[in-house]
Amino acid sequence: MAGIWIRGGRPLVGSVQVSSAKNAVLKMMAAALMTSGRCAIRRAPAIRDVETMADLIRCLGANVTRDSGGNLVIDGSGVDGVEAPEQLVRRMRASVLVMGPLLARCGRVRVPLPGGCAIGPRPIELHLQGLRQMGARITEERGFVEARADRLRGTEIHLDYPSVGATENLMMAACLAEGTTVIRNPAREPEIVDLQLFLNKMGARVRGAGGDAIYIEGVEELSGAEHEPIPDRIEAGTYMVAAAITWGEIILHPVIPRHVEAVTAKLREAGAIVEEVGPDTLRVRGGERPRPLYVRTQPYPGFPTDMQPQFMALLAVAAGASIISETVYTSRMKHADELRRMGADIVVDGQVAIVRGVRRLTGACVEASDLRAGAALILAGLAADGETVVEGVHHVDRGYEAIEEKLRGLGADVRRVAEDVPAAGGLPLVRA
Ligand code: EPZ
Repeated sequence: MAGIWIRGGRPLVGSVQVSSAKNAVLKMMAAALMTSGRCAIRRAPAIRDVETMADLIRCLGANVTRDSGGNLVIDGSGVDGVEAPEQLVRRMRASVLVMGPLLARCGRVRVPLPGGCAIGPRPIELHLQGLRQMGARITEERGFVEARADRLRGTEIHLDYPSVGATENLMMAACLAEGTTVIRNPAREPEIVDLQLFLNKMGARVRGAGGDAIYIEGVEELSGAEHEPIPDRIEAGTYMVAAAITWGEIILHPVIPRHVEAVTAKLREAGAIVEEVGPDTLRVRGGERPRPLYVRTQPYPGFPTDMQPQFMALLAVAAGASIISETVYTSRMKHADELRRMGADIVVDGQVAIVRGVRRLTGACVEASDLRAGAALILAGLAADGETVVEGVHHVDRGYEAIEEKLRGLGADVRRVAEDVPAAGGLPLVRA
């Protein structure tokens, strides 16, 4: 299992280019299944989840290539498959987002029920409930779910929880339904507003994304479209924390300040300086020990759950005790165990963590359990005294493009290593 080796203790200083949003690009790739036209997604990040989604839609008959400009080009003319391969769905939960598009285009879809993952069970009953309301006949057996519909019918759907994936699956399914669909209590994430923009470029009639109801007027067919997705607000937030935890100064571009408002507010509350220094450009400065916080994750525009692990790393060196309450997932605290190996003082009780800040963390060999936990451990290693190896970097590669290059560009002493390579000083990094 490859890892990232870090020698900590240096302030990160410089500029970092933020990639396009993983959690926007993946849905646009699924939406491209709904047309026999050609779609182009500009600046699509070179990350594992994009490759996995590309493999998935190729299995379904789409042709996916990357042109010389780094744009992802998808030709949906050959789409004839309706079954998502189990190994791909189990590798990436976002694979279930092909359900709405395939049901809309082909009238049938069969996908394995996504398993749980490191951050908790990941059911899809809200997706299925909405598709049933639109007239799909759904059967579940032997770990697979199959949906059929000659043509989906527009209807009014009220989501019990503002699920991001359910909102997106139903939005896409409704684009080719007969009549109008209203999704009430939808998720409001910026990636959903961006998906609305992309769908409308394809000829769909979607409005209201980002608000308390989304209206989709079904059309007969969709065409290809080109689009540059929004910058990745979670990647940006991760580098914002990197500036704060290393007492450095980082300029991030492009970033849409509104999309990182909750993270900005919490970093300012912790004592970091966050300034807009140009269009879509932020400067973040650390420079003192973070002040303790109370962080409670919520659906957008609340504090994002995908930034919770990174803030736990920051608060592990705060000047006081913090409380972190994770309300979105049931077990997104595994990174606490690994931070404790670096000297953090954290007590976890269910979905709540008490983090008593220590003055310094110490380098250790730690293991990432998921994408954002891996990012958090890298941040901790950047701030810690000595050497850290974060194993399981394949999790990080799912959503962070060229992370070691970007960190080295900020002055970090990091490199990718094969498993169990002794620390540079010859002292083996021993896992207890
Ligand atoms: C999206 O996942 C993101 N992934 C996640 O980012 C993010 O953490 C999450 O939204 C919340 O913001 C992508 O966009 C690819 P949900 P999704 O449906 O759609 C429960 C990352 O790090 N739920 O809003 O799966 C669910 O179990 C990833 O980039 C149901 O109970 O999120 C979870 O506890 C991690 N039933 C909560 O809702 C359902 O039918 C939020 O899930 C659907 C969801």
